Amino acid sequence: MATKESLVSKLARGIKTAFKPSNGTTNAKADRATPLLDARKSGVEATPQMLQQAAKDNMFLHFTRHSPYYTAKGEIPIITKASGHHFWDQNGKKYFDGISSLFSVNIGHGRSRLAEAAAKQMKELDYFPLWSHAHKPGIELSERLLSYAPKNLTRVFFTTGGGEANETAWKLAKQYFKMIGKPNKHKVLTRAVAYHGTSHGALSLTGIPSMKKMFEPLVPSTFRVPNTNFYRAPSNFKNEDEFGLWAANRAEEMILFEDPDTVAAIYAEPIQNSGGCFTASPVYWKRLREICDKYDVLLVADETITGFGRSGTMFACERYGIVPDMMVLAKAMTSSYQPLGALMITERLFEPFKTGTNILAHGYTFAAHPVACAVALENLDVFDEEDLVGNVARNTAKFRKTLEKLYDLPIVGNVRGDGYFFAIELVKDKATKQTFTPAECEKLLRGYLAGAMLKVGLYARADDRGNPVIQLAPPLTIGPKEFDELEQMLRKVLTPAMSKI
Ligand SMILES: Cc1ncc(COP(=O)(O)O)c(C=O)c1O
Repeated sequence: MATKESLVSKLARGIKTAFKPSNGTTNAKADRATPLLDARKSGVEATPQMLQQAAKDNMFLHFTRHSPYYTAKGEIPIITKASGHHFWDQNGKKYFDGISSLFSVNIGHGRSRLAEAAAKQMKELDYFPLWSHAHKPGIELSERLLSYAPKNLTRVFFTTGGGEANETAWKLAKQYFKMIGKPNKHKVLTRAVAYHGTSHGALSLTGIPSMKKMFEPLVPSTFRVPNTNFYRAPSNFKNEDEFGLWAANRAEEMILFEDPDTVAAIYAEPIQNSGGCFTASPVYWKRLREICDKYDVLLVADETITGFGRSGTMFACERYGIVPDMMVLAKAMTSSYQPLGALMITERLFEPFKTGTNILAHGYTFAAHPVACAVALENLDVFDEEDLVGNVARNTAKFRKTLEKLYDLPIVGNVRGDGYFFAIELVKDKATKQTFTPAECEKLLRGYLAGAMLKVGLYARADDRGNPVIQLAPPLTIGPKEFDELEQMLRKVLTPAMSKI
């Protein structure tokens, strides 16, 4: 008689089968070709073809649709070098880096002094963690970052990127409220279409349903409130102040819906990237602060992109008069020459950790890596010596004006943003602001624009996480001559765009 197999042994059998190497040995790797390793061992330079094949065979790229690479003509773009606001691919083609690679190489590429700072630090102290210890580059960088920050921020908790800093802010908020006797405060409000990172916590904060669907169930307790997309605001709002006030009041409404005793924080980017560079009037920020004070909710400014000069001040909080309880920094802290992020907080949030046995049981191996901190300090020296923040402040109006020339094209519905951070929203009908269907977006963005921009030598972002936009965030080193160049390239690409749908 057949015995019933237990669920546990069934699972165990299933797992074993799933992982059984196809050649029947336990060392499938031994049979793998390693042409790059072989070339390296014999001192031979790998050819571009070898690199292309190895990339296709071995890599899993981020946020990437891989299928085109496995067609007859499919090629993964391999970037070989970069200098200033340009980079080059494996075929020697030159591109204008219109989004500072990932909104992050703010001083431009190829600054050898950052490499020298890294080498010097590596020779002196290669690595040490922040576990109950500190090191000079980390100490110096904390002071330097705070010197640019709103005066109420007094402490720096390092991470390796923006998502980790957002994650940290939420965990800290939860623990802080537990420690001060408000243990139910744990919920977080974030804004529709905003992106805050990819780990489970940061993704839960993110307001883009399509990005979250595959990873449900996520961390509970996050709630969406409206963003500040004035172009898509109902027409009864006469100006951004009125609309801003309305949007901020929705946060109060949500806090009341959810019970103020349960809400810990609200996250907002000073200029929201996802959806296409949504700015907000100072009225919005003032009202949001009032609401946070009224209900003891912490305001977290996610400056992952807007930090380090992008908006025309070192931090965008300064430009818009935002008073945050926590501020998230990453990307351009090192101009992305090294991975580094940080969370800056008020002393109030640190105070409970100064007493007794209290600790924040949270940290990252590579956070405040001494080499990354040394590179960040050198990067900030470049900012100061070349007055890059001033360059943005002096030129932002010219940049906007140059991009607004594109309004003569029927597909350009809205040019918006600030500093060196602009989005161009594409529309089907300018008069009615009618947008494209998902199928049309697919054809327009992935079927045409992404490839067409690269063809004319422009690296910019064509994005439809909200309505379709092209985004620009060039290095802070450029000026009017390069604005014209960007406008010309976009004109070339956008002029025939409507006919590609
Ligand atoms: C506003 C914002 N927050 C968080 C993140 C996540 O940062 P990271 O990729 O460094 O984790 C990003 C990344 O682009 C971002 O734009």
